[in-house]
Amino acid sequence: MQKLMRLAVIYGSTREGRICDRVVKWLRKELAGFAQFEIDIIDPLAFSLPAQHLPHHPEARRLADRLHRADGFILVTPEYNHSFTASLKFLIDLFAEPWHGKPIAFVCYGGVSGGLRAVEQLRLVFAELHAVTICDAVSFSSPWRRLDPEGLLQDPGDALRRFARMMRQLQWWTEALIAARCDRPYAGIAA
Ligand SMILES: Cc1cc2nc3c(=O)[nH]c(=O)nc-3n(C[C@H](O)[C@H](O)[C@H](O)COP(=O)(O)O)c2cc1C
Repeated sequence: MQKLMRLAVIYGSTREGRICDRVVKWLRKELAGFAQFEIDIIDPLAFSLPAQHLPHHPEARRLADRLHRADGFILVTPEYNHSFTASLKFLIDLFAEPWHGKPIAFVCYGGVSGGLRAVEQLRLVFAELHAVTICDAVSFSSPWRRLDPEGLLQDPGDALRRFARMMRQLQWWTEALIAARCDRPYAGIAA
């Protein structure tokens, strides 16, 4: 049997009353149809991370282990002031190696822009971290109207078609990059 690919889903919001919970619930249900992926949900609130940039802090190491184990990622990101959240940037910047040579997909949400401005900025960040961002993203505008607290999507629009496209691309890149990293460790940062 083929080995499962490990996909980490990362919460992009730590705000009290966050809509992110609904979006992650929706995503979890949709991912249940992808038996080739083992899903790990990573919520920064489940870690007592220090306020300082301390990658060797025990809680940061616990988070790093989870990121290292992942073969690919889906970031669930809202848009805050035309960008993404400070909590997500803090998590991303804590480590470099866990992102290297891995694919990153996005499920985004917000007001009229549906969170896409946050995604465009994240693409720049992940280029610096030697990661590959997936072209298609799933975007929800006004998710507080479209998703109920259990993550049930009332008005799917083209979300399911976009999700299927994103997952096809993510699967291709995850398989390709697992094979590439097995063949030889990522060497892009060698002096
Ligand atoms: C500080 C802040 C800034 C925001 N800025 C934007 C914005 O620039 N564009 C947008 O479409 N929505 C913006 N929003 C709306 C959020 O995308 C929306 O409230 C979303 O639900 C936030 O995610 P969360 O509830 O999971 O924290 C902002 C919300 C907050 C709290």
